[in-house]
Amino acid sequence: MPTLEARREALQLLGKQATGCVACRLCESRTQVVFGDGDSAADMMLIGEAPGFHEDQQGLPFVGAAGQLLSRLLSEIGLPRDQVYIANVLKCRPPGNRDPREDEVQACKGYLAQQVKLVDPLVVVTLGNFSTKLLLKTESGITRVRGRVYPWWGRQLVPTFHPAAALRSGASVVGAMQADFGLAKAVLDRARAEPEQGVPNAEQLDLGLAVLE
Ligand code: URA
Repeated sequence: MPTLEARREALQLLGKQATGCVACRLCESRTQVVFGDGDSAADMMLIGEAPGFHEDQQGLPFVGAAGQLLSRLLSEIGLPRDQVYIANVLKCRPPGNRDPREDEVQACKGYLAQQVKLVDPLVVVTLGNFSTKLLLKTESGITRVRGRVYPWWGRQLVPTFHPAAALRSGASVVGAMQADFGLAKAVLDRARAEPEQGVPNAEQLDLGLAVLE
């Protein structure tokens, strides 16, 4: 595994390359690419769907109302936002916030695969149906799959609702997210305490990326 510094530099370089990406039609309508944000050596990585209006304007993931809820949920488990890494499946905003299309996901997912590989988190939290279904390769909805921990190629994956859904649906979904974030923190604490179980070997890492590639 390369040094932390080499991984940070590689992530920065990838982010720079992404700013000029023209691999799908979203390059025509985006204001800017929203590559990712946070600690490039974080033990926890959160993965959303795609940038919305505010993210497209500011070039950072989860900076709108949903992002404020996300920051609150993170601080409640003692993890400030700058201690995690946050990215989306798509790096460019779909017009009108429509659902991502399959060819857009195919064009973009190499970036996410590289981000997972370089950040190398112990715990991945998927936010909402879209990233959860993609990473877990499941058709089951988030309501069914949340509340549990899934081994994900040598890492631990904790799926939860999308914060925008929590803003729409109210206290019960916020409460479920608080429980899921508590679970993710407990899993993280355990993985940190037992590093030999949390760190994937090279073979597992390659298999993990095959999910996204
Ligand atoms: N919704 C997402 O999935 N990602 C963002 O960055 C903002 C809103």
